[in-house]
Amino acid sequence: MITRIEKIDDQSIARAKQILLSGGVIGMPTETVYGLAGVGTDSNAVKEIYRVKGRPSDNPLIAHVHKDYDIKKLVEIEHQYVYKLIEKFMPGPLTLVLKSKGVVCKEAIAGGSTLAIRMPSHSGCQALLKAIDMPLVAPSANLSKHTSPVTAEHVYNDLNGRIELILDGGKCSGGIESTVLDVTESTPRILRAGLITKEMIEDLVGGCEIAKHKKDDKVLSPGVKYTHYRPKCDAMLFNDGELDKVKLAYNQAVSQGKKPYIMCTDNVAKNFEGCNLLLLGSTEEEVASNLYDKLLEGEKKADLIIAVAMPDQTGINLGIMNRLKKACG
Ligand code: TXA
Ligand code: MG
Repeated sequence: MITRIEKIDDQSIARAKQILLSGGVIGMPTETVYGLAGVGTDSNAVKEIYRVKGRPSDNPLIAHVHKDYDIKKLVEIEHQYVYKLIEKFMPGPLTLVLKSKGVVCKEAIAGGSTLAIRMPSHSGCQALLKAIDMPLVAPSANLSKHTSPVTAEHVYNDLNGRIELILDGGKCSGGIESTVLDVTESTPRILRAGLITKEMIEDLVGGCEIAKHKKDDKVLSPGVKYTHYRPKCDAMLFNDGELDKVKLAYNQAVSQGKKPYIMCTDNVAKNFEGCNLLLLGSTEEEVASNLYDKLLEGEKKADLIIAVAMPDQTGINLGIMNRLKKACG
């Protein structure tokens, strides 16, 4: 199969619609990461997503809808605070887990009773969703376990030959996946941290928990139990207080004839003059936006990525650090 990358416009959206309505899957941009999309009511399309991505079938998918879509067609909203979240953060990088009405097929929700819903803010993605006017289920458009894609080229590198079409909507501005929030109980609970932070949710609705994912717990958001975000080269992670160890690991790698790169914020990089660097920027928004791009750049250039942790785990840093820990094993 030949995989084409087409700039997202009316023509390519019409082609995408044709592929999707005949049960096919495509690469689509969102403001967080690229998705591998299929029609959520078509169980064959959903099976195709799992097959193309190599994803375990017990890990459910997010249903993406346009901003004027009535999500009550798909899910039940049992708590009033959910309307506040929708009003404030949708469209945007927030995914709500709600009780499914069974419209989206059971394969997409891994046989469970809840459905995750998201309204991407990316204008091209909105145009596609509007044109199709049906929920598109989509995981990130990487091969299972690999780093998530933030450009059409990243999608191509993983899925070339496996899908017909990738809609190119430029580099994703957000850079890490949406916050997944369980809103089936009286207090919302974060299953996966992201750009909509615990603090932002608390400010709006008065409370917010973070799900603890312990080894023996019943798995709340199956995706978090899997190896994830791994670049194809070795990667290690140090605390921001361990810059001596970073330098040591770097020098050791060089002396072994390897090509190491240090991945860190611009500020921390001042300690590593003359070293190979993957710069993440300064603010937490910049770091989130650059994280996967730099991991994917790193796997091409480096034998070893030596990452330096963010200074704390509040706000967006929590989501960044969750990914970085997994990316570095
Ligand atoms: O930003 C994003 O969310 C991107 C873009 C493409 O929209 N999508 C994405 O999908 O990251 P994926 O499949 O890579 O991650 C979805 C996460 C997984 O951790 C999955 O377990 C969880 O959401 N999830 C999906 N449906 C769920 C449900 N019904 N209950 C609990 N967790 C769910
Ligand atoms: Mg993913």
